[in-house]
Amino acid sequence: MTPTERILAIKAKLGRDLVILAHHYQEDAVVQHADQTGDSLELARAIPGTAAKYVVFCGVAFMAESAALLAPAGVQVFNPVPEAACVMAEMSPATYVEAVLQRLQHPESPVIPLAYVNTSVATKAVVGRFGGAVCTSANAATMLQWALAQADKAGQQGRVLFLPDQHLGHNTANKLGIPAEKRLRLDIRGRGERIDAQAALQARLLLWPGNCPVHAVRFKLSQIQQVRDQYPEAKIAVHPECAQEVVNAVDGAGSTSFLIKYAAEAPAGSRVYIGTECNLVDRLTRRHAAEKTILPLWRSGCSNMNKTTEARLADALEAMLEGRTAATTVDEADTAPARASLTRML
Ligand code: 13P
Ligand code: SF4
Repeated sequence: MTPTERILAIKAKLGRDLVILAHHYQEDAVVQHADQTGDSLELARAIPGTAAKYVVFCGVAFMAESAALLAPAGVQVFNPVPEAACVMAEMSPATYVEAVLQRLQHPESPVIPLAYVNTSVATKAVVGRFGGAVCTSANAATMLQWALAQADKAGQQGRVLFLPDQHLGHNTANKLGIPAEKRLRLDIRGRGERIDAQAALQARLLLWPGNCPVHAVRFKLSQIQQVRDQYPEAKIAVHPECAQEVVNAVDGAGSTSFLIKYAAEAPAGSRVYIGTECNLVDRLTRRHAAEKTILPLWRSGCSNMNKTTEARLADALEAMLEGRTAATTVDEADTAPARASLTRML
């Protein structure tokens, strides 16, 4: 049997007991089997209400972990490729975040952490213990306003530690009008022993120095200039994990769902360049080919998102059914605080 036939057979057998979720960055061969596709926020929202017995999350590890945290009792969450990790999520290990947060606290200026959903459960738990919350690229501005208000409530002039994506942090701060001189990119070497305490005290927004190589490294101002020179009427939209000089130079920036809407709403006959993972951009190119030209600003793929193939999904579903694979679990001590940080967002 082909992988397609093997997956269809299991779907037919399990019926409503099985839900397959796929992030927009998954390849088409996987997406065709998904009951729901979405960005991180949409997929996280789908979990608490699920009536299925098995949730299979095609994405990267932190997404299945978050799903396991939010799943109702009795629902098992499986990750078809457990080794598919988000490179950026690995940049803020829980022990580092905890040590840095302890170092940053000041009786008159508390620090509230705000973690991008691209973090491990252990890091989300640290954030929860320090009274913080989680955000996604779709709600980062709302959540940053919330975190600043929390920090101000607790002290005279509070501060927010945004982690791990410095670029999403800068881009969100630009949106909210937080001036550059009120932001500090932290030196986390030695678990923060090199942080300039005085500079940290004067900042409003402390930025963890993480980034997504797929966005922050691959998309450049020169690509935008080239498009503007060649096709002055073309529109460009990118994901806010791109560097601020890139985001500031384009016509739109937002989550994967925002980019899908941007392409859909572009007028017939127009030319639009999208700066995000190329599986999604290629899908948009094909979807709109009859009426407009959607192109990648640059071809940039997430190697971890691409570890899930149709064959790996078929293998994982069979292993799940035969009890040869374990469901995603979460450390018991981390469950309550990590769930608190996620539900504060939801
Ligand atoms: P979204 O929150 O837009 O789904 O992005 C997740 C991600 O990993 C982007 O690189
Ligand atoms: Fe992580 Fe970047 Fe891949 Fe998204 S695209 S999963 S942030 S490495």
